[in-house]
Amino acid sequence: MTTVTMKGVSLALDDHGQVAQLHGLGIQCFGGTYYAYGENKANGNRFQGVACYTSDDLAHWRSEGIVLGVRESGLLAADTIAERPKVLRCPSTGEYVMYIHTERGDYNYAHIGVAVADNPLGPFRFLFSMQPFGNISRDIGVFQDEDGAGYLISEDREHGTHIYRLSGDYHSVVEDVACERGTNYEYGYESPTIIRHEGLYYWFGSQLTGWECNDNMVSTATDLHGPWSEWRPFAPVGSRTFDSQCDVIVPLDDDQYHSTRFMYIGDRWRQSALGESPLVVLPIVLDGEDVAL
Ligand code: DGJ
Repeated sequence: MTTVTMKGVSLALDDHGQVAQLHGLGIQCFGGTYYAYGENKANGNRFQGVACYTSDDLAHWRSEGIVLGVRESGLLAADTIAERPKVLRCPSTGEYVMYIHTERGDYNYAHIGVAVADNPLGPFRFLFSMQPFGNISRDIGVFQDEDGAGYLISEDREHGTHIYRLSGDYHSVVEDVACERGTNYEYGYESPTIIRHEGLYYWFGSQLTGWECNDNMVSTATDLHGPWSEWRPFAPVGSRTFDSQCDVIVPLDDDQYHSTRFMYIGDRWRQSALGESPLVVLPIVLDGEDVAL
């Protein structure tokens, strides 16, 4: 991927010169290679498959095509919506498990789709959709801790945003670890993502403003169960997170749990041309309770 970058804003191009369809993306490093999975929004908001790109250096990206395809009918068909694909490798089975926010024609179905593959390049096979413990689930994120435990983070309009612990095979949830609303805010935060650094968990999220950007927030805790600190902005107040919505924080050192350098990636949505929404890529400093983009 050639990246045309100006002040951290990248219109990411793949090795064919096409805009990389990495909207609402998730990134994992498997076997020393970075795999990025994104919403393909080339032709609007309806599901067009999950696109995958690989990289050895987070700067040059190869297009690996569509790894979760459009189905003929039902969920993940061309008339549905599916957002924020995230992939984890399950340590106990070796399987690659993809989670994706699945909707039907509008945003009322609010389930998590689960798909699996033997290979990070897919093809991923859709298994089922679920609502963890019966809770609404819209924006999602994932986190894998150093002990191999997997977590789904999921926005539930009624209760707040949850952290759910996954079962040993990563196919279901076994614990509602935490559920948080924002500070002085009615809802839990969207576009959730968590990382750990030097004994602290950092939970990031955005306010609920549709495709518009806002001042995204972070909370910290020494345990995923909490207590979680008050939520606070990590970019200059009023900058609307430099006009972006957080997707992931990527550890840049080889040992992701002892990394000292981190990269923020977020979307700057263009509602009229979602497929041309640029990524905002910026360094982020984590220093105890202090977080600065
Ligand atoms: C905010 C979410 O974070 C996006 O993924 C998308 O669902 C938009 N809302 C739709 O308005």
